[in-house]
Amino acid sequence: MIRTEEQPLLPWNRPLIGDEEIAEVTDTLHSGWLTHGPKAIAFEQAVRDDLGVEDAFAVSSCTAALHLAFLAAGLQDGDEVITPALTFCATPNALLQTGARPVFVDVDPATFNVDPGAAEAAITPRTRAIVVMHYGGHPCDLAAFRKLADARGLLLIEDAAHALHATRDGRRAGSVGDLATHSYYANKVVTSGEGGMLVGRAELVQTARLLGRHGINSSVWQRHGSRSTADYEVTVPGLKYVMPDITAAVGLAQWRKLPAFTARRAEIAATYTRALAGLPGLATPTVLAGVQPGWFLYSIFIDPDVAPLTRDQVAERLLSEYRIATSRHFTPVHYLQLYRGLATGPLPVTDTVAARQLSLPCYPAMTHEDVDRVVVALHDVWNV
Ligand SMILES: Cc1ncc(COP(=O)(O)O)c(C=O)c1O
Repeated sequence: MIRTEEQPLLPWNRPLIGDEEIAEVTDTLHSGWLTHGPKAIAFEQAVRDDLGVEDAFAVSSCTAALHLAFLAAGLQDGDEVITPALTFCATPNALLQTGARPVFVDVDPATFNVDPGAAEAAITPRTRAIVVMHYGGHPCDLAAFRKLADARGLLLIEDAAHALHATRDGRRAGSVGDLATHSYYANKVVTSGEGGMLVGRAELVQTARLLGRHGINSSVWQRHGSRSTADYEVTVPGLKYVMPDITAAVGLAQWRKLPAFTARRAEIAATYTRALAGLPGLATPTVLAGVQPGWFLYSIFIDPDVAPLTRDQVAERLLSEYRIATSRHFTPVHYLQLYRGLATGPLPVTDTVAARQLSLPCYPAMTHEDVDRVVVALHDVWNV
């Protein structure tokens, strides 16, 4: 491959926006209703029907959905919540906002999801909930976690930010927990720029809905045209987390494309897995039997003792010589200043992932040439 510093940057991620999203937004802008209203309700309905969950509430981000989930769960000072450290800071941050303490557990070395056994071992009399995160879009062991949560009287919350369209043994990620959260952040499988969804059991989502609109007992859309918008009651100290209709318009159009987006991601993943097999010290993702992953991430794992370069050297060469951007998922939460020292035991698999994992570009806006460019560059880098 000719190394061309002249080539345009291939970003790690780029949304695929078409005329459908633009038409939905234009329609909303012309409609005169910009905040949470008919588009957000239609988006909620689409997600609810697709997942087969009792209720869905469209909010401003996955972080907002997590915060509302924890508030609706009634978490408070001194409660413990089991969560992986191999996740984004949104979960522990929102937990701390409620006074609850995140208890970090390690992940399994095949899928990098929390293992039900490790979660069970971390349960104490103060444990109230387990938050699982479907790493990269590969669902965790949903049946085992449901069983564990039921047996121990705990709430199961799925952070499905990476797994909007993934199944395990026929069960859709995000449909098994008492509550589950979606992210429609700009780099996610489906985007609305910023946005999220809280789905799950009706009474919990209803509580979250109340908390997410100031604690006001009706939505402004419900009051519109039937009574004064000022005619309401506040029953709990709520926050403002609703998704506006301009955002929902984009999300709704994107949601309709989710199966096609996932199929294209799977195709790119299959190409990478085939083409990168045999590069020394490079491992590609494991997909367990019975799993249809969502492929938010395509991760490679670089063993510094076997590969010609370290993970960071590979990332640096891909960027500087081939203009290919990559990412890392994640800096484990217990490495971050606020959380340092909070891990109560060693997290060896999490540490290994932190040192070796690299996220390759894998998204529907990539052309076949883009995918080939990544494959050829990696072979080139390995050919030192
Ligand atoms: C696993 C996970 N959970 C939650 C979030 C937060 O999502 P949002 O930016 O929509 O708040 C992210 C964001 O990247 C994430 O990766």
